[in-house]
Amino acid sequence: MRRRSLSILLNAGILIFSGVAAGQEMESEPAANAQQQKSYSAMTPQQRAAATRAFLGLGPPPDKAAAALGEPLFQRDCAFCHGPRGRGATAPSLITSGVVLDDIRGDHLVSFLKKGRPDKGMPAFATVSSDQLTNIAEFLHLQVEEVANRGAYHVLNIVVGNAAQGHAYVSAHCESCHSMASFAHFAGRFRSPDQLQRAWIWPARSSDPALAITATVRLPNGSTLTGRVTQVSDFRITVIDREGQTHAIDRTAGVQVEMHDPLAAHQTMIMSLTNGAMHDVTAYLETMR
Ligand code: HEC
Ligand code: HEC
Repeated sequence: MRRRSLSILLNAGILIFSGVAAGQEMESEPAANAQQQKSYSAMTPQQRAAATRAFLGLGPPPDKAAAALGEPLFQRDCAFCHGPRGRGATAPSLITSGVVLDDIRGDHLVSFLKKGRPDKGMPAFATVSSDQLTNIAEFLHLQVEEVANRGAYHVLNIVVGNAAQGHAYVSAHCESCHSMASFAHFAGRFRSPDQLQRAWIWPARSSDPALAITATVRLPNGSTLTGRVTQVSDFRITVIDREGQTHAIDRTAGVQVEMHDPLAAHQTMIMSLTNGAMHDVTAYLETMR
């Protein structure tokens, strides 16, 4: 029930949270301890985040390492329809979705995603592994956390890796495409390690048109259209051509689509990245100021 009220609050776009309400809620929460009885303003940011989570009936805090690995998968498989941060686009917001809010560590979402709701336009992801779907689930929980607990999440330290090992990893796995010199002042560009980690794991597309996903669509009459993809599904693709004209094409028999993703190499890299390597690379790049 309380998760439904979160949905209503988030839908309204405002999250009114009073210390009094939190205090009342905490008393009935079995996990409450003496510290949580403190007034909201006297809490540390971590305590405040935990209190907000308990008040809203959210599950355990999101696993940030899993979420970081889930993000590129979400961008690849889900963002077209649900928006880059899951806040909704042509398909509904997932931040306020009961399916997401009721899930803990993928226990509901993995089976939901394997089946989808094909009759309603939500594809089945039967061939994506359960581990990858669990990482996508954690990415979604992190998006909920960011809406519910703005700011609190940044205080948790994610620089837990070994910088020397990270350096070795980068020269072994990244130098084929990037010179080491290109990372010289990398960390100076970000306000927090979270932003830095997101930037190297999943470089932002929005800032750079050269990174946009493009497609060449060959129509049954032999003509072709090329442009930036704004929407794609099994049934339809929308591209914006050089002149800025939008074309929505039904993927009927005889229509051939060839997609080009400049970040495909990063996608491949993420698939083989372990949590340990991820932490090490972030720790190394954090030293590059
Ligand atoms: C082609 C567009 C499309 C893609 C791609 C897509 N979805 Fe959906 N999704 C939808 C639509 C449309 C719905 C609403 C279905 C309905 O009305 O029941 C939906 C519903 C959902 C819901 C249930 C929301 C609710 O509370 O009812 C979840 C969760 C979800 N999608 C997650 C994902 C994830 C995670 C991915 C990527 C692995 C993904 N979707 C990819 C279109 C898409
Ligand atoms: C197979 C080639 C390839 C490999 C391997 C690769 N990248 Fe990339 N990377 C790219 C491409 C292509 C882009 C997008 C174009 C660009 O921004 O340079 C990119 C972009 C980036 C960006 C964004 C650029 C910026 O200035 O914001 C960062 C950061 C990055 N990669 C870090 C890494 C790290 C760290 C590794 C190794 C763990 C790695 N890359 C491995 C090809 C690769």
